[in-house]
Amino acid sequence: MLSESGYSDTAIDYYIKQPNMGSLADANQISELTGQCGDTMKVYLKMTDNIIEDAKIQVLGCPGAISAAMVAMEMIKGMTIKEARKITDRDIFRRLVEIPDQKQHCIRLAVKTMNKAFDEISPL
Ligand code: FES
Ligand code: FES
Repeated sequence: MLSESGYSDTAIDYYIKQPNMGSLADANQISELTGQCGDTMKVYLKMTDNIIEDAKIQVLGCPGAISAAMVAMEMIKGMTIKEARKITDRDIFRRLVEIPDQKQHCIRLAVKTMNKAFDEISPL
């Protein structure tokens, strides 16, 4: 059903397995953002010496939002904030391989949510 609506097998797999969904009891940064659609993401970061040691996210949203958020968390683990800030919507889209055109803004919500956390940790 999802593949017929324009999701790649990779994106569907992230949506089904939800590898980085959840919270972190020992997070030292928690940030939440709601998109225009009403979908909401809450990111949990565990920072050690300026490195993102662990990252999880809770997503109340569509398959596009969930799969994009899973990829975003996977990408930032082990990065510095400076490195993680460079991740673009396009980078996440490439890892998802394909999601429907009308779902591109779901990727934006994932990127905006994690950047909100980065800004709250170290303002630009
Ligand atoms: Fe716009 Fe999700 S539909 S942020
Ligand atoms: Fe809301 Fe995807 S439709 S973030």
